[in-house]
Amino acid sequence: METVVSGIRPTGNLHLGNYFGAMRNFVKMQETNHCYFFIADYHSLTTHPTPHDLHGNVKQVLVEYLACGLDPEKATLYLQSDIPETAELYLILNMNAYKGELERCTSFKDKARTQPDNVNAGLLTYPTLMAADIIIHKAHKVPVGKDQEQHLEMTRTFANRFNRMYNVEFFPEPVAYNFGESLVKIPGLDGSTKMGKSEGEGNAIFLFDSPEVIRKKVMRAVTDSGPTKPHQKKPQAIENLFNLMKALSAPETVQFFDEAYNNCSIRYGDLKKQLAEDVVKFTTPLRERILELLQDDAYIHKVVNMGKEKAHASASKTVREVREIIGFKEF
Ligand code: TYM
Repeated sequence: METVVSGIRPTGNLHLGNYFGAMRNFVKMQETNHCYFFIADYHSLTTHPTPHDLHGNVKQVLVEYLACGLDPEKATLYLQSDIPETAELYLILNMNAYKGELERCTSFKDKARTQPDNVNAGLLTYPTLMAADIIIHKAHKVPVGKDQEQHLEMTRTFANRFNRMYNVEFFPEPVAYNFGESLVKIPGLDGSTKMGKSEGEGNAIFLFDSPEVIRKKVMRAVTDSGPTKPHQKKPQAIENLFNLMKALSAPETVQFFDEAYNNCSIRYGDLKKQLAEDVVKFTTPLRERILELLQDDAYIHKVVNMGKEKAHASASKTVREVREIIGFKEF
């Protein structure tokens, strides 16, 4: 059995990008692998250092994990901050992570641009904490979306560097995983190529959005005045709507609108109505389950404690061995 690790930051509710890029695979992978799925609450401080309601955000994401079908009996579900061993491994990995390689990381450069007043050390060392999350369970596979590809490359670098420096075959090389397919990138509704929590109003559809909100967001999605020639290349915003449709709607629906686009008879209003209804159909059962689970504090408490115990057992074993390898000894 292979070991799988992945996580999501609790900086907002889960959106369709999180679902189709990551969560959908978490649910599939728990059936046949040894899985650890966590909520990256330490990581969320790199962009939101003084969260208004960290506990509430973590609870919401945990409930969304469960509502999407993660089963605490099959997978270990836990909070990153419940496993302080991760922080110790992060510290150790940081000793062998170099300023230059961390500064070259695309996500660091992006964040340094978008939050110039808060270019903190956590942001710079984000990839070493992420590597610690993954290798602390000696993971082989990491289900993530396309935007995490470079972080996985860096994780392999840090894992290999540890093995080489201490002359051991200790950490496996984890890979970003999507069942042999290329990694997913779900676009936003505002014409941008990525759906994201912090991309601004009208970009993302959240699993917890009400049907009215979903319809409003989709109907406001960016389009253009329509194709003027048969088989014209689709501009980005239109391509985005088609890509969302491909993720959610029946193949016949996509084909119908594709043909309408190609023969210039398409009406974007019809496409949006159809897309909105398909999103609502998909999210409604999830939303109902989220609302139910939010009321069940006793169950949430049980899930968190079960996960903490299992994750702790695995993490503490790894850190004990890492200490031995490096040469920390008890007197
Ligand atoms: P985060 O919280 O930004 O996103 C969680 C997961 O959702 C995926 N995702 C997307 N996939 C496709 N299309 C999109 N538009 C889209 N937006 C988000 C992300 O790729 C991710 O898989 N660094 C991670 C959290 C993390 C982690 C880890 C992940 C911390 N430690 C260890 C794996 C292993 C992050 O910020 O994800």
